[in-house]
Amino acid sequence: MLSNKNNLVFLFLICFFFSFDTDKNFYLSVPAGFPKPEIPAENKLSKVKIDLGKKLFFDPLLSRDSSVSCASCHIPKYAYTDGLRTAEGIKKRTVTRNTPTLTNIVYNKNFLRDGVNPSLEEQALVPIHEKNEFDFHVLLLTERLKKNPAYLDLFQKAFGAIPTPKLITQSIASFERTLISGNSRYDQFYFQNNSAALSTSEINGMELFKKLNCVKCHSGFNFSNGQIVNNGLYENYQDMGKMRVTLNENDNGCFKVPTLRNIEVTGPYMHNGSLESLEEVIEHYSKGGMNHKNKHDWIKPFEISQSEKEDLVSFLKCLTDSSFITNY
Ligand code: HEC
Ligand code: HEC
Repeated sequence: MLSNKNNLVFLFLICFFFSFDTDKNFYLSVPAGFPKPEIPAENKLSKVKIDLGKKLFFDPLLSRDSSVSCASCHIPKYAYTDGLRTAEGIKKRTVTRNTPTLTNIVYNKNFLRDGVNPSLEEQALVPIHEKNEFDFHVLLLTERLKKNPAYLDLFQKAFGAIPTPKLITQSIASFERTLISGNSRYDQFYFQNNSAALSTSEINGMELFKKLNCVKCHSGFNFSNGQIVNNGLYENYQDMGKMRVTLNENDNGCFKVPTLRNIEVTGPYMHNGSLESLEEVIEHYSKGGMNHKNKHDWIKPFEISQSEKEDLVSFLKCLTDSSFITNY
């Protein structure tokens, strides 16, 4: 009897490792022209982990009163933003910043509008604890998940373990790393050699984007050089950006250069959502921004005609990847 039982346990273990093994090698599909994303060695991707992270991302159970989820603010059809000037969390409490897109977040090296958070795993803890977002605690969330049979099963499948704070953040980060967008009309034109994908106006806009220095900061395949700089939004910043954490005056008003992918659907714009439209954004840059001692040298006044403005806006809009915002 005893040996039979042991055999069963042994068999179970073999099956268990087997099912784990078949899932080990999960690869992200990388669009043409994009580099291979770096995945941290301590949090390799797997299909079951990503599925679990996705379920958590869309589940209001993560907030104290189970009313809001990550997806309440990071809504797929707005490229994981919310259409609001500044975000709204639990009990309609307002957050001071505008919700950033999660488009191609796997390529980011630093997180938050001011880039002070070093990893996606750690970033996932922020909204859970913020009073104006989930107003909860990761230890309480862990206890809640441990009482939930569906989650117990999923954590078992993904990690062979019960829920822990580390595994919660690892699975959410894994899901976020799959949010890759690289099939806009710009990509079809630029990386997939389809010269008919852009109109003459959009191609003019692309040339202006280079000529007016935009491309210096919004550079490369993801339209961001990853720097944290001052783009002259204010003479006096209410939100000090990176200085909030470093307390260094040179970081006053410095924010991360955001990607411009899917920019058509991610307004209002800037860290505080103060600019309603892309036309207003261009207006801001054409004036050379406001006077601030930290304003970057590349922000200089320029003059363009009305039709050039329209070209620039139409170029920015060809960065919309409709498959990314509709299939999720
Ligand atoms: C109440 C709305 C709200 C909720 C809920 C929310 N976020 Fe956010 N998210 C924001 C805002 C606002 C920021 C920018 C905060 C800042 O810069 O200080 C942000 C920033 C981020 C960033 C950094 C993006 C970047 O470009 O650096 C990531 C990643 C992120 N959120 C993921 C999540 C995840 C995962 C959840 C759920 C666990 C979540 N968010 C829940 C509003 C929200
Ligand atoms: C010196 C670097 C720099 C240059 C040059 C620059 N930008 Fe930006 N851009 C930024 C930064 C930094 C932000 C974010 C500021 C904030 O969050 O308040 C930003 C934000 C934006 C946004 C809003 C993105 C969002 O998600 O809110 C748009 C659109 C934009 N820039 C377009 C342009 C265009 C068009 C040009 C050229 C006319 C340009 N930028 C030139 C640094 C730059």
